[in-house]
Amino acid sequence: MIVTTAQLYKVAYGKFAVGAYNINNMEQLLGLFRGNIQSKAPFIIQLSKGARSYADKRMLEAMIRAAEEIFPDAIFAVHLDHGDEETCYDCIDSGFYSSVMIDASHEPFEKNIAITKRVVDRAHPKGVSVEAELGMLGGVEEDIAVDEGHACLTNPEEAVEFIKQTKCDSLAAAIGTSHGAYKFKGQQSLHFDVIEKIRENVKKAGLPPTPIVMHGSSSVPKSEVERINAAGGKLDPSARGVNEEEYLPAAKLGVTKVNIDTDGRLVWTRVHREFFRDHPEKFDFREPGKIFVSEYGTFIAHKNEKLGSAGQLDAVRASVKAR
Ligand code: G3H
Ligand code: 13P
Ligand code: ZN
Repeated sequence: MIVTTAQLYKVAYGKFAVGAYNINNMEQLLGLFRGNIQSKAPFIIQLSKGARSYADKRMLEAMIRAAEEIFPDAIFAVHLDHGDEETCYDCIDSGFYSSVMIDASHEPFEKNIAITKRVVDRAHPKGVSVEAELGMLGGVEEDIAVDEGHACLTNPEEAVEFIKQTKCDSLAAAIGTSHGAYKFKGQQSLHFDVIEKIRENVKKAGLPPTPIVMHGSSSVPKSEVERINAAGGKLDPSARGVNEEEYLPAAKLGVTKVNIDTDGRLVWTRVHREFFRDHPEKFDFREPGKIFVSEYGTFIAHKNEKLGSAGQLDAVRASVKAR
């Protein structure tokens, strides 16, 4: 059942985080649904601009609708990941999406506000929630002076102003992560101080609690990188991601959506590299495909345990209705 992102946030806020998984193909989709059913978790499917052009947006929509029928117990929202204004409007007007992300964080503050506001004005009358980004994700290097390092992070004072003016429904905040497989050097962790300050400032300003979205949340398991490299890959062994044990403490502070893409790509790469290394004579792609679907399902169920969303499906079912 497709529900609104707002409904999922309402149940999850301050208690657990909902996994938002990027999907590009049928095998990922099957594994995603199996993993969420297996772990009894609500979830968010996110489609990037790249995915919409790779698989064709109509193909993705049709596959998601088919999966909804195949897995009638699943409860999920459909979200546009990192949209520009034009793509946001396309998704809002389609009537298929539960929420969109407008990513104008690279623009100056006032321009980011103006663009985000336009998207909110078009989305809200159609019951679509808007995620907006403030602050720049990126490698916050450990050896950079604190002030400079913080320059990339979301400014909690600006965050309140931004939420107030744009009326966005959730905030993608830069709290120390970055996209891809190379996030941290040394012993860095999430900037819990920034998350707490945003929550505090929102409350002080008398605004309703605003769910925070964590982008760049993959954990880039060392074992996965090692197995890929042992099967012919050449990933930088210094690749490092977010400590999975930090998902839940962040969720308790208001991080309600956790975006994961890279880790799933690593599962795909590991499965296929190992399969063709071990069976160089084979060419039926359904064989590694089956292994991938099963491994991806296991991966999703594991993530949901760490996010605290595992086991929440019945509680969610009791309080949501189809969009
Ligand atoms: O944050 C971006 C996501 O990982 C999506 O990546 O644009 O290559 O589909 P993509
Ligand atoms: P990762 O690259 O850490 O998986 O982040 C994905 C993401 O933020 C999608 O919006
Ligand atoms: Zn992202």
